Amino acid sequence: MQLPRYIAHRGLSAHAPENTLAAIQAASDASCEWVELDVQCLGDGTPVIWHDASVDRCSNGKGALINMTRNDIRPLDVGSWFSQDFRGERMALLDEALSLVSALGLGLNLELKINTGHDPAALARVAVHRARQVLPLDQLLVSSFDMSALETARAEDEALALGLLYEAVPRRWASDAERLRPTSVHADWTQLDQERLIEIQAAELAMLCYTVNEPERFSSWWDHGVTGVFTDDPGLFDTRYQRRTR
Ligand code: G3P
Ligand code: MG
Repeated sequence: MQLPRYIAHRGLSAHAPENTLAAIQAASDASCEWVELDVQCLGDGTPVIWHDASVDRCSNGKGALINMTRNDIRPLDVGSWFSQDFRGERMALLDEALSLVSALGLGLNLELKINTGHDPAALARVAVHRARQVLPLDQLLVSSFDMSALETARAEDEALALGLLYEAVPRRWASDAERLRPTSVHADWTQLDQERLIEIQAAELAMLCYTVNEPERFSSWWDHGVTGVFTDDPGLFDTRYQRRTR
């Protein structure tokens, strides 16, 4: 799998409300090749693109996703908190996001987000099934902090590219890798460890770092062989990715 140097984190989240169709479109408009999106299920099982356990921070509503149905989230405005330019933006269903990613020809890192009380296996099954119906294998990378979700994803599809997602890469990463046969390891760049990075390279896995919005502070890690970064704005790194105005 050809992974890019820059992946637009939650879509182009520096310039559009995170994890929305507008943020996916903005990433494409800025010439990004890949986006990262978080997926989780509502209480009725509908998979949606959303990061937090509740809608409080990024919408005009309140409440936990796990207590909501598709009918509850549809009226929410998930754009105005970011800017009035995005007023009326709706929470994206996974299916809507997949259709747009596919239509724009983007690659997708779909992060299975397991917030407290959510069922990792149920999310992994529905998300992998739907994503594989829409995207080819070389445009899809499924990751999670939750290794049990990745185990279900692997059982669903032997050929699926998986990313082991950690804060700091733990010593046990190699046993996770042996079991899950990933394509990449993802970690918080502020907790990167050179020794682990060398081990990951020796295993011929890609190393992706999140969330890098300070190109200069990060720059020496490129020399240590990091494959790519999740960033809210790839335009910070390379003018080729500068956003055109909306
Ligand atoms: O997948 C990389 C990154 O998105 C993980 O952290 O909290 O932004 O989902 P978070
Ligand atoms: Mg994420």
